[in-house]
Amino acid sequence: MSVTKGKEPMPVPQPVLAPLTSAAIFLVACIKPDCESYRAVRSLCIDLPGIFRAVDFRRIEGGLSCVAGFGSDAWDKLFGKPRPAELHPFREIRSGERHAISTPADVLFHVRARRMDMCFELVTQIMERIGGVVSAVDETHGFRYFDDRDLLGFVDGTENPRGEAALEAALVAGEDPPFAGGSYVIIQKYLHDMSGWNALSTGEQERIIGRKKLSDIELSDAVKPSSAHSALTTIVENGKEVKILRDNMPFGKPGQGEFGTYFIGYSRSPRTIEQMLENMFIGRPPGNYDRLLDFSRAVTGSLFFAPSATFLESLGDEEPSTVSASSPPTEPARSSSSGARETSLGIGSLKGVPNE
Ligand code: HEM
Repeated sequence: MSVTKGKEPMPVPQPVLAPLTSAAIFLVACIKPDCESYRAVRSLCIDLPGIFRAVDFRRIEGGLSCVAGFGSDAWDKLFGKPRPAELHPFREIRSGERHAISTPADVLFHVRARRMDMCFELVTQIMERIGGVVSAVDETHGFRYFDDRDLLGFVDGTENPRGEAALEAALVAGEDPPFAGGSYVIIQKYLHDMSGWNALSTGEQERIIGRKKLSDIELSDAVKPSSAHSALTTIVENGKEVKILRDNMPFGKPGQGEFGTYFIGYSRSPRTIEQMLENMFIGRPPGNYDRLLDFSRAVTGSLFFAPSATFLESLGDEEPSTVSASSPPTEPARSSSSGARETSLGIGSLKGVPNE
């Protein structure tokens, strides 16, 4: 289904705005550096809606969705030009003991469903197609914990924007017309020092997060420190709060003492998430950093662009010669003239992109 505004078909986003689910797999992979491998991944992008439909239809009530994102280095080789205006490699940050590490990543699959078997099956089918041409650099299976809490015990996701505000926060619009309906994605996998965290009093933990632990109510300005996580991740520009869309998931292996939070943030501009990371790791002002980082260590960090579903579906109209590992093509690797077909990647919202 195309979404129209006036006479122009609006690109249909990937299901970036899919509702929170109880299971997710985050698969990050690097593509082998030869033309054939890039061609195979591009060909998967074209066929992904069909693969998705086959898995989705086996349990139609399972709420399966899949968002595919692509890293800066892989973009030109997969799709040629133009490229999303703000796509670049993840910028690492070092400050004191804190390190927002940058890890290699060409492609991300963010697969969500009510049941892990559906996520597992879709990722299996994806890897069936591209397993020989990529190396999986990280695969994390996330689960929804009690009351939507992270493993630190706090409800995570409360201040996410909803409805129109979510569209406006997450999706590129008129500022980069060829990529309208797309979204920048930053992921970071965090491991927690649970014994250190649990040694804190509940009051100390609440001042680190900026919210009450049991009720999830925000601390009042009178008691909330300026270093609280929820304070440092609040970005205000021209008097207006700039939001991002998160779908963090707990993960871990208790038998091996592994307890973590997989951070994933979707944003209309990567700058917003980068500003949050600077505030967290360096501090606002410098030194007034996020104490959550005394108990949480980032072990991955990557930036992707998730183009619209319309963009991915239009790839089939292009010549395969646009795929070259050594010499990126100069022509756009997409066609907007064919109009948007009904997408089948589990679109949660067909509202299109915000009006500019
Ligand atoms: C160890 C990893 C992290 C954990 C456990 C965590 C946990 C939380 C919790 C419990 C909240 C309060 C409830 C809510 O509004 O969701 C929160 C809020 C938030 N977090 Fe995180 N977070 C983590 C990393 C990050 C990162 C890396 C970013 C961005 C770069 C981020 C951005 C935000 C934002 C924007 C809010 C909402 C702030 C507000 O408007 O009040 N978080 N996080």
